[in-house]
Amino acid sequence: MSKANTPTPHNAAKYGEIAKTVIMAGDPVRVKYIAENFLENPVLYNSVRGILGYTGTYKGKKVSVQAHGMGIPSIGIYTYELFNFYDVEKIIRIGTCGSFKAEVKLGSIVIAEGACTDSSYTAGIQLPGPYSAIADFTLLRDAVAHAEKEKLDFEVGNVLTSDCFYNEGGKEPQWARLGVLAVEMEAYGLYFNAAISGKKALAILSVSDNTITHEELSAEQRAIGLNNMIKMALEIA
Ligand code: HPA
Repeated sequence: MSKANTPTPHNAAKYGEIAKTVIMAGDPVRVKYIAENFLENPVLYNSVRGILGYTGTYKGKKVSVQAHGMGIPSIGIYTYELFNFYDVEKIIRIGTCGSFKAEVKLGSIVIAEGACTDSSYTAGIQLPGPYSAIADFTLLRDAVAHAEKEKLDFEVGNVLTSDCFYNEGGKEPQWARLGVLAVEMEAYGLYFNAAISGKKALAILSVSDNTITHEELSAEQRAIGLNNMIKMALEIA
């Protein structure tokens, strides 16, 4: 199933051009920034729909970095193809999230141990109950070890992957009551695709806003959070 399906309608890469580990971010501009500032010899393998993808090396390790767009349907397409057609083994998403709690501070990092969702993404396989989406344990453990070593401000726990950025209907307290730390829009789809493909995934999220107080990070603070996450992802890749 793998090689014969490449390139795909969404990804111009030839089989073998993508590393076994891919770091992904929603925004292609962020991906370009990572490739140009953190990878040695980055080579562009995709620009279909502006979803940039590069392969280079980091400390001698072959790594790819690719955009995934916004929401589960978008990350779902790209990660399914990477895992199943390009034989990618690990995907680490770096992104932003909105905090559900005062303790989960702006600029801190949420390492998503698990994800809940209001999406019906798994409906196609007709499970007899809800699927609990979890991170790969070794990636999670390595991310925590890195965050402790670098003395980063971080939390580990559950997140909500929502299909709605606007009009969420004020459900935050109901999720927060169950210990859910923050909201974003992709981790559940990534973890589900890793599970169904027998592969590994982790989402690392910098807190860009607070959904209760409506405080937001400045552009400069966002950049610091982003650089911390990029280093973490590359170190554990
Ligand atoms: N909602 C959904 N996704 C997000 C948010 C949010 O408030 N902040 C960053 N990603």
